[in-house]
Amino acid sequence: MAGAPWVRIDLAALAHNLACVRRHAPRARVMAVVKADAYGHGLLAVARTLAAHAEALAVARLDEALRLRAGGIMAPVVVLEGVFDAQGLAAAALKNLDLVVHDPLQVTLLEQSQAMLPRRLRVWLKVDTGMGRLGVQPGAVDALWQRLMDCPAVEAPVGLMTHLAHARRGVCPETRLQLDRFAQACGALPGPRNIANSAGILAWPESHADWVRPGIMLYGVSPFAGEQGADIGLRPVMSLCSELIAVKPLQRGAPVGYGAIWQAPSDTTLGVVAAGYGDGYPRSLPAGTPVWVGGRPVPLVGRVSMDLLTVDLGPGARETVGTEVVLWGAGGASVEALAAPLGTIGYELLCRVTPRVRRVVAEMSVGGAEDETASAPPVNQEEDRFG
Ligand SMILES: Cc1ncc(COP(=O)(O)O)c(C=O)c1O
Repeated sequence: MAGAPWVRIDLAALAHNLACVRRHAPRARVMAVVKADAYGHGLLAVARTLAAHAEALAVARLDEALRLRAGGIMAPVVVLEGVFDAQGLAAAALKNLDLVVHDPLQVTLLEQSQAMLPRRLRVWLKVDTGMGRLGVQPGAVDALWQRLMDCPAVEAPVGLMTHLAHARRGVCPETRLQLDRFAQACGALPGPRNIANSAGILAWPESHADWVRPGIMLYGVSPFAGEQGADIGLRPVMSLCSELIAVKPLQRGAPVGYGAIWQAPSDTTLGVVAAGYGDGYPRSLPAGTPVWVGGRPVPLVGRVSMDLLTVDLGPGARETVGTEVVLWGAGGASVEALAAPLGTIGYELLCRVTPRVRRVVAEMSVGGAEDETASAPPVNQEEDRFG
């Protein structure tokens, strides 16, 4: 549709980034994180691609997992927050979902519900080793793990997981401590281990264990401050695009936009782009932020409004109405670069593209980047997926 922004979702880039995960953690199985609408990319299109190449998917909440099942995704799906009542447990069992158990109350829930469930559930016992959010205390692991193993509603073996709080390369005593605490808490208990998010995958090989849980790096974004996905061979999956809907000459001193916070310092050409904070392009981005118009970077000027933003195309500009604009992504700025001056992270920009923005999914061509993921460890039998 002309005159409106869209996001382009590049599934070949997604496959490329998954291949990058495999190169970093070649012996681990991959639980691809698709929570929050696949980090704003659109749950089902992303999940279909990842389900074909990863050993499992992970979402935060039960309703996200149910959306996957309703959308025909039959791959193993892990609910990272687990469930909180008998109804949730029954739905999880009915839809063959795997659960994280992070609180003793969830163990009790499983123990109480055994008779009602259509099948046993695979569970991951989550240990709080320093994140300070979800997870059981390290000292409680032995007893809770045993209760889960004894519970008729639970399929053996029970997995053991934790989540890293710090995303730093190099010396990071906090991560070291978390890894040590986890190893100590789990001791010699059998069952698969699952620790690493993107930061762990990229910077902490000793965190790779049996499974890894990449999120942001699958979408082509670096988890590390001061680094961009492209620096580590990732490709952006989402590009936020639009087009010029007006181009006009501006005389020196002419004011532009709400509050006239920018006036043309000299005669120039103004480009008006159909995108604004109502689409998820942050209002607080500073003047000078690069916007790619027809393949060249030009500065953002004036205040970003709900539906529009303005750029200085310079004197003698040749772009016309309809010229394509890339606000971030392939052929444009990186979300990491845009997020940094706002004091936020690429994750947030990706997640806050609003529903009115159309998603255009670029499928993978046969024999293209898809082939890069072919080196997945052989894990196809359902009963083997946890081991
Ligand atoms: C429990 C858990 N595991 C894995 C991830 C993926 O993390 P990242 O996107 O940094 O790779 C997240 C994301 O927040 C998470 O909450």
